[in-house]
Amino acid sequence: MSTLTELYEPIAVHLRRVEAVFEDALRSGVPVVDHLCRHVRNLRGKMLRPALLLLAGQACGQVRDEHYTLAAAVEMVHMATLVHDDVLDEADVRRQAVTVNRMTTNETAVMLGDFLISRSFLLCSSIGCQRASQLVAAAAATVCEGELLQLSNRGNFQLSQDLYFTIIDRKTAALTAMSCELGAIYANAAPAIVRCLADYGRSVGIAFQIVDDILDIAGREEQTGKTLGTDAKKGKLTLPVIHHLRTSTNGTADRMLAYLQSPEAQDRTRLAQMLAASASIDYARRIAGEHVARAVDALLCLPESPARAQLQTMAEFIVARQF
Ligand code: IPE
Ligand code: IPE
Ligand code: MG
Ligand code: MG
Repeated sequence: MSTLTELYEPIAVHLRRVEAVFEDALRSGVPVVDHLCRHVRNLRGKMLRPALLLLAGQACGQVRDEHYTLAAAVEMVHMATLVHDDVLDEADVRRQAVTVNRMTTNETAVMLGDFLISRSFLLCSSIGCQRASQLVAAAAATVCEGELLQLSNRGNFQLSQDLYFTIIDRKTAALTAMSCELGAIYANAAPAIVRCLADYGRSVGIAFQIVDDILDIAGREEQTGKTLGTDAKKGKLTLPVIHHLRTSTNGTADRMLAYLQSPEAQDRTRLAQMLAASASIDYARRIAGEHVARAVDALLCLPESPARAQLQTMAEFIVARQF
């Protein structure tokens, strides 16, 4: 599997421009805010959404100044959702460092997340085209709907696979779909092509969240750089668990249900052991793989190009990753 550096090599110059916009947009002048922004700015994540936006732009035409601004804006929305999500999940570690909620307080993290979202809307409005602001605002609202839907289903041990997909479609795929859509729109792609890129981004987002949920159970914190095990701990059912509860026999499902409702669920080791002996992780990986295949299919509307090939590699990377 390629490393992220290899994967991003063709867009490295563009990503640096995005970083510059990002840095600039986070200046406040209020020392406490600048201090917090430095903390989140210095910790770079995978930059997946900006990369998707830039590659979609390249695959549909060429990267322009608007792409840099919008890539910084979508990364900022993403970061805001992470800062808030760590409050909901009571997480300690994010991007190999202490979370804002642990470093300071939940109140500070909530306000910092709001600051990031607001600055991201400011960035969008700076390009003087309403379409981008509309799409980013709509996707940000959809992410909140997804997180709220998930929140209201905490402790719902009957959560269906359909509802799980509705949740991840909203909380994660909406943002990746919109990133690809923006990349295509600002490269002046025809409406049908814009739709294909949005479909690609949506499928990539679904696959991405399924893999994230597998890593939450069976991944390694040193590799992911974030607190794992919060899904079961917070009563959030994810695909491997839903599958296991639905398919296992001889009391195995009952044992898992009892585990999920017990204080033991605070420790993910037992869940990983129970699922290791089942086919449910493989099942979830297979479903993620099917979404990657769908994403790759959606790219066929584009002419062959290095950027299209790169989008395909990105989709494949997303399911193979360990972080
Ligand atoms: C984490 O996203 C949140 C999810 C949607 C699962 P990433 O794994 O892209 O986070 P960073 O940006 O690399 O830290
Ligand atoms: C959160 O999902 C997705 C967001 C919209 C932020 P997770 O709770 O699984 O994300 P991580 O695992 O904490 O990054
Ligand atoms: Mg979380
Ligand atoms: Mg997760």
